[in-house]
Amino acid sequence: MCGIIGYVGTREVVPILLEGLRRLEYRGYDSAGIAVWNPWNKTTIRVRSEGKIENLVSKVEQVEIRGSVGIGHTRWATHGAPSELNAHPHKAGPFTVVHNGIIENAFDLRKKLEDQGCIFESDTDTEVLVHLANLFWKQGASPGEAIRMCLENIRGTYAVVFLCDVMPDVLFAARKESPLVIGSSEDGTYVASDVPALLPFTNRVVYLEEGDFAVIRRNGFEITDRDGAPVARPLETVDWNPVLAEKGNYRHFMQKEIFEQPRAVSDTIKPYMNFETGKVVLPYATFLEEVFKDVSRIVFTACGTSYHAALVGKYMFESMLRIPCNVELASEFRYRDPILDGKTLVVGISQSGETADTKGAISLARDAGCPTCSIVNVVGSSLARMTDAVIYTHAGPEIGVASTKAFTAQLAALALMVLYASCVRNAGETDLHLRFKEDLLRMPGLMEEILGSHEILQDWAMDIHHALSALYLGRHVLFPIALEGALKLKEISYIHAEGYAAGEMKHGPIALVDENLPVVCLMQHGVIGEKIRSNLQEVEARGGRVFLVADELAAQEAGLESKLSYIFKVPICHDLLSPLLFVLPMQLLAYYVAVERGTDVDQPRNLAKSVTVE
Ligand code: F6R
Repeated sequence: MCGIIGYVGTREVVPILLEGLRRLEYRGYDSAGIAVWNPWNKTTIRVRSEGKIENLVSKVEQVEIRGSVGIGHTRWATHGAPSELNAHPHKAGPFTVVHNGIIENAFDLRKKLEDQGCIFESDTDTEVLVHLANLFWKQGASPGEAIRMCLENIRGTYAVVFLCDVMPDVLFAARKESPLVIGSSEDGTYVASDVPALLPFTNRVVYLEEGDFAVIRRNGFEITDRDGAPVARPLETVDWNPVLAEKGNYRHFMQKEIFEQPRAVSDTIKPYMNFETGKVVLPYATFLEEVFKDVSRIVFTACGTSYHAALVGKYMFESMLRIPCNVELASEFRYRDPILDGKTLVVGISQSGETADTKGAISLARDAGCPTCSIVNVVGSSLARMTDAVIYTHAGPEIGVASTKAFTAQLAALALMVLYASCVRNAGETDLHLRFKEDLLRMPGLMEEILGSHEILQDWAMDIHHALSALYLGRHVLFPIALEGALKLKEISYIHAEGYAAGEMKHGPIALVDENLPVVCLMQHGVIGEKIRSNLQEVEARGGRVFLVADELAAQEAGLESKLSYIFKVPICHDLLSPLLFVLPMQLLAYYVAVERGTDVDQPRNLAKSVTVE
């Protein structure tokens, strides 16, 4: 959701805040603001604006604002419409704050504060923080104590950074269920919602833990835990290449990230594959060895695109290992009193590792005594730290709001997990498993081949971009890819789209088919392919426009090449790995349609990259 950046040091702070905010903009882009301590006038100056960071930049250019201590924020509105008045930072008395999260008791607190004479200028829940801190400070508490007391009175979630005019050489930061990372460098100390915002300045970071409170100074920081006891958190070096968080010669981050997928998948596989023994090693997931010996069921839980990866995981595990699996939307799972026990492995899948519902689902599983594992892209993220085992995907920072390379890296991680479990359960030496492993290693090369044909999808986009609605059909392991194709199209092009299990078409959606409805069909060869072929004929018989994505054999077998105007061919591989290939044309098609429609591809309306509130 919202993004936070703060700095105290020796450099000019404004360019740091603006650069950090640009890199956090994918977390929210309704409004933005900065606050800088001005040592000459002894005041904190705020500049805020509605809309994107570039609006803020234009405004900042018109103001003389200098200093070396400051905080900044990019907002995804929860309480209060996106407007300048509701933009952070908020200020009352000497306190200025930026906040990511939701304060659940804001309404009651505000009422009490207003009764005591506080005058609010915004509709946000955040503003209660500064009024409350100010109240405690006026009653005699030091700034740090006042902030702590304020946080003790808050119900909800937060990552906050405070600047205080009466102690302007420090920043105060605290977190509860929303991430915060401190960055350490020669010129000063940084704090941000996530690592990409820090990459231009430093790669030495400290992740704050739940309940931590940090006093951040130019030359270091002190952290205390939720009981107020001093704690040492490890300083870690991030090996993300800052170039991965830049657009390079691409027009959009999403485009760059689509084309980066062979690298993302290869980087995810290589560190986990011991090429001498042919076995998978999972250094942060050795805990799984005992679990897999005895597991009776796996529950995958996730949201959005990560949920679609989880659906593919079920096909992989059930087919290769005969372990029963359930796939659960995290937002449903966490509130429906599921049946769980100590032999159920619960796996949370998340790019950000900060999605509130996925974290909630994993908490529930932990409380029920289940072993837990996460597949996450962001090192040190909350989910990674909550679970007994972690498998990191190495997609690198994903900036485009629509997830692409994180998805294929998640599929690769699931495949690695299958190979690891096969070995533990002595099932790894069958021809089926060997072919699965060989094909997994071939994936990056096959993905390159597909990306090389991207212009075909660019042509399709010309014929689809005027559509009001689109249908995506797939069966078996390509059903989740139909769901993912539809999700990608709707989120970045704003065309309504539905993904369906092709066999369900006759049970309803066929009523939508006419000459205006593009129907994207995903087809593998073999028995399942034959079924799809009938569905395809049903669509054609009703005048529907079929866009077929098929593996080479399926297209040939069906004799479709001569009959259809739109065919995109995908190389043949192990059917359980085909989602890694079939999803590429889905992403490219959505991308080119969105470009044709002129939408904001990297920051589609109303969306945020990291959904840290329910
Ligand atoms: C879609 C998309 C979202 C995310 C979802 C979960 O393109 O990006 O649907 O997949 O919000 O996010 P993570 O994976 O960070 O938990």
